Formats: sequence, structure tokens, C-alpha cells
Amino acid sequence: MLASLLRSIRRTAMVPWHLMAIATSSRSFAHNPFLGSDRLNRWGLHARRVAMAQRLAASRRARLARDLSPEDAAAFDRDGIVVKPDFLPPDRFARLKAEIEALRAPAREVQQGGALSRLIPLSPAVLAQLPETRALVNEPGWRGLLNYVASTRHGPVLFIQTIISHVGGRVDDPQTELHSDTFYPSMKCWLYLHDVAEEDGPFVYAPGSHRATPRRLWWERARSLSWRGGDEHSGRGSLRVSAEMLRRLGYGAARAYPVRANTLVIADTYGFHARGPSARPSVRIALWAQGRRNPFLPWAGLSPTSLDYVRDRQAVAFWAIRDTLARLGLGRPYMHDAGAVRPGDPAMDRSGDARVDA
Ligand SMILES: [Fe+2]
Repeated sequence: MLASLLRSIRRTAMVPWHLMAIATSSRSFAHNPFLGSDRLNRWGLHARRVAMAQRLAASRRARLARDLSPEDAAAFDRDGIVVKPDFLPPDRFARLKAEIEALRAPAREVQQGGALSRLIPLSPAVLAQLPETRALVNEPGWRGLLNYVASTRHGPVLFIQTIISHVGGRVDDPQTELHSDTFYPSMKCWLYLHDVAEEDGPFVYAPGSHRATPRRLWWERARSLSWRGGDEHSGRGSLRVSAEMLRRLGYGAARAYPVRANTLVIADTYGFHARGPSARPSVRIALWAQGRRNPFLPWAGLSPTSLDYVRDRQAVAFWAIRDTLARLGLGRPYMHDAGAVRPGDPAMDRSGDARVDA
């Protein structure tokens, strides 16, 4: 009786918060009664959020276009993904690769199926050990390209990312399902330290699927009304799509992007993408950046993360907040604290560790 009363008080207290979240990047149908409401979504709430986010991103990108080359902007506008082989001059890349491989720093890990993801955040202390990496992420050319794809002038969250496949002999990986990360334009970027062949699980992307066409908006509306019967990721707002539906949406097939070392891949992950399946055990190490911001802001600037001081502390601060909330019984920690490791250290099988969020 008391528990149900407390639950109903909590639900009522959360109403203004859930309502305000409609105007933010909040995306989970399952965790917000307004975003997941059949009635509101029949009226088009979700599809309208998608369409408005696209319109505002286009207007912000128009203002950010002067900060990258016209070729890169045109490739991105067409495909939603830009691939730049031989990104750094060979001597600079050799120095960057050597310093990242020699790094030993605090990391977090999560295992999904047989794929282990290891993230080392580029905090000020870590960047101090990576002079070549620090020089790169502070360059105007790098910033301009990442800002354009993210559709905002911001400081992306920076990591050294390692993906190790076939951990514990398992070959499954839920991230190999084609999906859209968010309902709005968002950016992910990898500078690969080593070759990633077709058999090693390269990035997969459906070119052109970053555009919210009328058919896509129809599909978004339908999915916003059927999320209860779907998978957990879609319920949280990261919609999965089948190859057949991709074709029906008019986007054409998704393709794999195997790369040589020193290739930069940058994509709008509103577009449909996945990790390719690894046909053999592999280790992929990359300088990785992720950029997301409230998609309903009309302006491109004024982001606190565009200050390096904030940019380089955001991942660690986010993890500390999640740890504190988890200690209070409010949610789960974000990934498993792996202590200080090297990017290329072998994986410890964490498949039994279900008490973390991916
Ligand atoms: Fe994704």
C-alpha cells in the first residue's frame, strides 16, 4: 500500500520533467510516458520531433559549412558518411599510433555477446601523455569536420576505443543489427590505428539513410506506435531496421567500409549503421569521438563542451554521476571499471556481468 502510494507520488513528481524532455534529445519511448504515448504519437509527436530535428540540423550545418572543405561537405550531404584514407601524414600517424599503443590508463569495458568494448576517456591527464593526439583534436580542420557532421559547434566526447571480438569463444554481437542511434542527427568518428579487413567486422552504413525522407517519417511514426512489441533497444529510442525494410524505405543496401590504418570514418548515426560481423577474432583500436546535443537548439554555438576544459572532463564526470546514482540504488553503473589497461590488452571475459549499462 505504502509502496504503491510512493510510486504514484514519484510518477506525479516526474510529470513536469518528462514533459520538458520532449524539447531535448531524450529519446526513450519506454522511459517517458509522453514520448511513448500512443495517443500523442498517433498525432505525430515522434515523427514531428524527427522532422523538426532534421530541419534545424540543416540550418545549423549551413552556418558550419565554411569550416570544412566543400568536397567533404558534399560527400557528407550525399551519403551521411565521409571516409578519408591517409588522413594524417605518415610521420604524424606513426607517432600518434605509437603513443596510443604505449598508453596505460583507466578504462571501462562492457561485453555484448562475444564483443568487448573498451573505452579510455581522453581526460586532461591522458591527453598530457598523448601530445600528437592532443594536437590533432585541437586542430581547426578536425573540429570543423566533426562539428559539421554533428550539426553543432561542440566538443565531442573523446576516447581510445578498442573492440575485441570472439571473446570467450562467442561469435554473437548485438551491435551487428542495423540501427539508428537516435531520432536526430548525431556524430560518431573513428581514426583507425590498424587495417580493418572485411573479416574483422568493419563499420557498416546505409549511404543516404541520414535523410528523413517522407517514407522514413512514415516508418518512424509507425515504429513510435509499435515499440512495445519490439526489442529493448528500439524501446529506448534506438530503432532497429531489417535489410528488407531498408530497401522498402528506398535507401538501398547497407555496405561495409573496410579500411586501411590511418583512415578516418565519420558518420551521422541517425543513418542506419552497424558493426559488421567478425568472421575471425579481431581487435580494432581507434581514436573515437562522439557528438550529440539537444537537437532543438536553433543556434550552432554556445555549447559549454566547446571549451576544452569541459570537453576533456565530460566522460569522466558522466561516469562519476552514474556511479553515485548506482550507489544510491538509482540505476546501474555505466560499463565495468577495468582499472588501468593498455588499449591492446587482451580481453577478460565479462559476459557474466549483467549489472552494467551499455
Ligand atoms: Fe550505433
